[in-house]
Amino acid sequence: MSENLIIALSKGRILKETLPLLEVAGIAPLEDVTSSRKLIFDTTKENIKMIILRATDVPSYVQYGAADIGVTGKDVLMEHGAEGLYEPLDLKIAKCRLMTAAKKGAVSPSGRIKVATKFVNLAKAYYAGQGIQTDIIKLYGAMELAPLLNLADEIVDIVDTGNTLKANGLEPREMIHADISTRLVVNRASMKIKHLEIQPIIDQLESAVK
Ligand code: ATP
Ligand code: PRP
Repeated sequence: MSENLIIALSKGRILKETLPLLEVAGIAPLEDVTSSRKLIFDTTKENIKMIILRATDVPSYVQYGAADIGVTGKDVLMEHGAEGLYEPLDLKIAKCRLMTAAKKGAVSPSGRIKVATKFVNLAKAYYAGQGIQTDIIKLYGAMELAPLLNLADEIVDIVDTGNTLKANGLEPREMIHADISTRLVVNRASMKIKHLEIQPIIDQLESAVK
């Protein structure tokens, strides 16, 4: 008999692009995940269930084995840390980069600077590596507002087209990570114990990505 599997997907922008990839692997939810209030779904494979989470919660579910497989952004994974997680596949969707940004033309203070971000760990590591002292202000969204209202001198955020920065009078400054995209993660213990079920999914997703 097949082992049961739980796959944790990120709601939001990644979800719509993840579902077609999973469908190629023969895994589809039995109801519309975008309109349902349910958080756990049966799928076309009797032994596989899907859960829909905030992207930032996916690494915890997979790390502690509450889910066997997860799909989330590399930014989220780097911020969380890789403990207990195996990252076998780049799904090559939601490609973007992690950058610093500031008000257009603004000169950041020469001493301690205020940085607003939801990527507290990545920001701390980046500025420490540059020898710049910071006060980090944790935000959960709309980081672009912070420099405009002088809450922060700089932000650390995702940039894709650059339109959001531009629309708010900001400019990109330094690149922190250039190759952010959506990754498949697997719980390290599940990878061993449920290898027979998990490896074919990785293989099918890999050919779907290609
Ligand atoms: P949360 O729900 O926890 O606030 P979020 O709002 O960052 O998370 P999404 O906006 O759905 O969630 O983003 C999910 C992932 O998509 C991010 O972790 C990042 O990898 C990627 N991403 C975010 N913004 C963009 C963008 N503008 N273009 C391309 N990819 C992006
Ligand atoms: C993300 C990110 C930027 C924007 C960048 O926000 O936080 O604000 O996309 O994309 P761009 O360079 O193409 O303009 P998102 O739309 O996910 O909203 P959020 O603030 O809720 O995370």
